[in-house]
Amino acid sequence: MDLSVRIGDRLTLANPLMPASGPLVGDSGKILGLIAQGVGGIVTKTISVRAAQVPRPCIIGGNDYIVNTELWSEYPPERWEEDFLPAVRAAGKPTFVSLGYTEGEILSLIPRFERFADAFELSTHYLGRTLDPIAKTIRAAARATDRPIFIKLSPHIPDPVEFAKMVKAEGGYGLVAINSLGPVYPVRANLSTSPLGSADGFGWISGPVIKPLSLAIIRKIATSVDIPIIGVGGVGSAQDVIDFLKCGASAVQMLSAAMLKGKTLYRKIISALPAVLESLGFSDMRSVQGLALKSNTATLFERRLPVIDPKLCTLCNRCVENCPYDAMENRDRRIIVDPALCFGCGLCESRCPARAISGVLL
Ligand SMILES: Cc1cc2nc3c(=O)[nH]c(=O)nc-3n(C[C@H](O)[C@H](O)[C@H](O)COP(=O)(O)O)c2cc1C
Repeated sequence: MDLSVRIGDRLTLANPLMPASGPLVGDSGKILGLIAQGVGGIVTKTISVRAAQVPRPCIIGGNDYIVNTELWSEYPPERWEEDFLPAVRAAGKPTFVSLGYTEGEILSLIPRFERFADAFELSTHYLGRTLDPIAKTIRAAARATDRPIFIKLSPHIPDPVEFAKMVKAEGGYGLVAINSLGPVYPVRANLSTSPLGSADGFGWISGPVIKPLSLAIIRKIATSVDIPIIGVGGVGSAQDVIDFLKCGASAVQMLSAAMLKGKTLYRKIISALPAVLESLGFSDMRSVQGLALKSNTATLFERRLPVIDPKLCTLCNRCVENCPYDAMENRDRRIIVDPALCFGCGLCESRCPARAISGVLL
């Protein structure tokens, strides 16, 4: 099956899954390991003008999230230039070199890394919330190189659509959306401290828990601005890859899920993609792109009541216990919905472990 995707008119990947910038692409050994797993392209850990002094501990995981306080690469740019990137370049995989952060820093780094880069990914994570310094940086970077320039969107930017319009107007080629979200404070259960080594205990959250936020931002941009988007933030399965493409992404990146479920997740997802695509009735990856952009265009108010299938219902009572409107009851070993109380919210259907409830959700 053809898994290839195009990102705008200048880049093609053999499949849509790339790693996201972070520790799993922190040196050439790790990057070559991911290339061996079959990823469609590569991104580097963000390189800046000096090695980062990273507070430690710097990564904690929950069931469906990671909180981190990592900065950019703990290696200086010389190490990337002389050691890591020549080896990566030799592998011939489309490579996005991630650079940060200020205009001056990025302009000094571009000429050093251009020969290793099919594209640049610029992180603006530490440039604040206002668009002006970011616009100036993109304008200067676009003049300094003919490589496509992607700007990574931090979700603390208040208006992603305005951000995307600005990126396009200043000569950026595409967006990578989104970076981790925060700050967040992961207080420990038995102590009143954060387990992380940052001065305030704060970190940045990522992983499956942020997927709905990533999809909302990507979908918002894709319905308003004609610009390639690489989706990132919560990808953890082949179905997620397809969801991101449906919401307007041209390709995706993944990091946290591979740190939570195991680093071979890249290979597993790529090998699962053809069967998942086929089960949804598609015969290639590109025909999925943007499918969710045409739906959900009007507010609905009609109340739809849940229908319980007694053959599937296991009487676990989750719906009874969860219903915010007290509309479900287990009467004589049967789940009954009280139509006078049911608000038609949909929570029961979305949480039923036996998929015995239908009729509410779109
Ligand atoms: C430990 C860690 C380190 C990260 N380092 C970087 C980085 O150096 N540069 C960058 O642009 N994003 C960095 N990120 C953000 C990720 O690239 C990605 O945008 C974010 O984690 C959301 O994707 P995910 O849910 O698949 O992890 C880092 C994330 C984590 C968890």
